[in-house]
Amino acid sequence: MRKKPNLVPRMERCAALQIMEPEALKGRWHEEFPQYKSIRLEIGCGKGRFTCEQALREPEILLIAIEKVQDAMVVAEERALAQEIPNLRFIDFDAEKLTDIFAAGEIERIYINFPDPWRKTRQYKRRLSAPAFLERYTVVLPPDGEVWFKTDNEPLFQWSMESFAASGWAVREMPEGTPMTDYELKFTEQGIPIHRVIASVPVRKEQDA
Ligand SMILES: C[S@@+](CC[C@H](N)C(=O)[O-])C[C@H]1O[C@@H](n2cnc3c(N)ncnc32)[C@H](O)[C@@H]1O
Repeated sequence: MRKKPNLVPRMERCAALQIMEPEALKGRWHEEFPQYKSIRLEIGCGKGRFTCEQALREPEILLIAIEKVQDAMVVAEERALAQEIPNLRFIDFDAEKLTDIFAAGEIERIYINFPDPWRKTRQYKRRLSAPAFLERYTVVLPPDGEVWFKTDNEPLFQWSMESFAASGWAVREMPEGTPMTDYELKFTEQGIPIHRVIASVPVRKEQDA
């Protein structure tokens, strides 16, 4: 992604939307934000089209957007700031370390939209639907938690369906009408078909619960 000019001052202007020390809130998110019915997470929010629209649609839910590329996240933050969305926060963070910032069951739902496909075999572990990521999601989600997953990438979709199945997640179709992401808008305009599914946390065996 092209380096954004004035990144630092732009991020500083959005500081109120950013959680600077998320590790300090592990296990305390609901205490810190008691006004919200539940907390949901978006991983890899990019420039935040979906993020802002999703938060606006459900003001009673706190949406936390994680993004590891600051040049993308600042655009999402500026969008959120311009629309004065109160129930939205951002974390400049790599989802690999998700369990450093959220305790068991703290997140009701995770959105993963158009994740990077990481095509090379040695890069598979970085896919957000890789077994190690699913394991992290199982920890931070409650037993009835869900991952809402969208992609245009056919091989990634097939691989992800196998990954979900191998880890015991049940998958069903997503209802129509979810907010569009920036990638989704572009692909839809080009007539590229999109896969949209909801994956449910595997039923835990008694000894794991
Ligand atoms: C292809 S873009 C899609 C952006 C947006 N979700 C959309 O649909 O328009 C994938 C985004 O996920 C972010 N990402 C990938 N792996 C990540 C990780 N492990 N932790 C946080 N963000 C990640 C990338 O930096 C990138 O902005």
